Amino acid sequence: MRDIETIFPADDQIPADARLAGPIEQREYLVNGELRRWDGAMQEVLSPVCVETATGPVQRVLGRVPLLGEKEALDALDAAVAAYDHGRGRWPTMAVADRIAHVEEFARRMVGTRDEVVRLLMWEIGKARADAGREFDRTVEYIRDTVDAVKELDRAGSRFSIQQGIIGQIRRAPLGVALCMGPFNYPLNETFTTLIPALVMGNTAVFKPPRLGVLLHRPLLEAFRDAFPPGVVNTVYGRGRETMTPLMASGKVDVLAFIGTSRAADALKKAHPRPHRLRSVLGLEAKNPAIVLPDADLELAVAECALGALSFNGQRCTALKMLFVHADVVDEFLARLSAVVSGLPAGMPWDEGVALTPLPEPGKPAELAELVADAVRLGGRVVNPSGGESHGTYVSPAVVYPTHPDSRLYREEQFGPVIPVASFTDLAEPIRWVVESNYGQQLSIFGRDPETIARLVDPLVNQVCRLNLNSQCQRGPDTFPFTGRKDSAEGTLSVSDALRVFTIRTLVAAKSSELNKRIITDIVRERRSTFLSTDFVF
Ligand code: G3H
Repeated sequence: MRDIETIFPADDQIPADARLAGPIEQREYLVNGELRRWDGAMQEVLSPVCVETATGPVQRVLGRVPLLGEKEALDALDAAVAAYDHGRGRWPTMAVADRIAHVEEFARRMVGTRDEVVRLLMWEIGKARADAGREFDRTVEYIRDTVDAVKELDRAGSRFSIQQGIIGQIRRAPLGVALCMGPFNYPLNETFTTLIPALVMGNTAVFKPPRLGVLLHRPLLEAFRDAFPPGVVNTVYGRGRETMTPLMASGKVDVLAFIGTSRAADALKKAHPRPHRLRSVLGLEAKNPAIVLPDADLELAVAECALGALSFNGQRCTALKMLFVHADVVDEFLARLSAVVSGLPAGMPWDEGVALTPLPEPGKPAELAELVADAVRLGGRVVNPSGGESHGTYVSPAVVYPTHPDSRLYREEQFGPVIPVASFTDLAEPIRWVVESNYGQQLSIFGRDPETIARLVDPLVNQVCRLNLNSQCQRGPDTFPFTGRKDSAEGTLSVSDALRVFTIRTLVAAKSSELNKRIITDIVRERRSTFLSTDFVF
């Protein structure tokens, strides 16, 4: 592992293809189809990337973004409310084919921003160039898959059913105004995997970029403005308490799509005056465990656990955050894991093949150090050389063993490059941990014996929402359901599930009388309605 004192570049060592032109002063925000200029308070944007100076590493200043207030946030919401117009607006009543055309136009424009967005992902959140490119491409692909899923849904809704003498046409209709907020670790992908389905199904939206990862949305503002009718997409920047709480308190938000902490989600939901009117789709914390059985292929288990625990420095909700390894193999497992972790290339996001990069959250190195110190106080030790050492915003990954049940690391989500390991002799121990955990997203099992694995599958599928065999935890493929139990999620996301969570089934029904048949036939034949129609999109 490289000497972390040398990890940050001097200014002249930053390659030309990674450089930013200069600090970005973003004053625009999108409301009602226009880019408004903000002349009020601004927030400085610091990069996790430091530049080495004579006095040590200094975080690069990337620019400034608006700190809007309550009034501006409410103006953005009112624009979305007006565009929805109680479901009578142009957007919610538009034919599906036309809404799809707007979304496709947006995707076309978005593709042109790839280089700029990828570069900002590197600088703003420290994501390695390859991962940043993947996040961008996966998001564009998600939009295309969403369009296909909408067409499929539309085809299914373009027919009449006749049951017990009642004719009915059932479609999914929008809910109203969606408030979409993504997390800093996937600021683009996880904002758009709620925003785009919400929009294409006829909702209007306000979206707020995460606290970290704001500037990278700037290149997309024009694309939103030009691809969608006014008021359909609006943006808010600023502190959550000053901007989001008033929006929720107004009672005008119909769907809250939020990826972040359960504490923040609960506070937002509580601010809504009529919670029964609010639909929520939430992606929250997780502490996904791996269970390594004595017969596991250790080379595979170690490779998947290292990947699962340290991709994007462990800052994934799906990351493996607690490893339970059978006592018979724990020594060999730790030796192998320590070697693999030591071999991971650390550096700057633009370095070829880099695996470990600096962390964007303020105060994170100190927070992780406290978690490790607490585990060490309770008998744990850092197994890998240099594990847990830090320099500026960079923290070397630490493998901690044994992790005492009373330590914070045993239960709390670390969301960073720390890998707690505990050994077990009886499978009841990790199962009890899963049952007692506040989280219930996913888990991984490593082993070879079908009988033992089957004995774990049946009790554990009712504790989490995805069980991965000999594989790390992950969200993809995006057509698979992504959700969790307990404090980990509310609602399910996937390409097709997202279309459901932002809609409600609505139908037109009529007793099958001659009069009703004549009316329906006339409406359909003369194309008098977009809902009551047998047209469908190819
Ligand atoms: O942070 C949570 C992400 O949804 C994880 O996605 O498993 O594809 O990295 P991923």
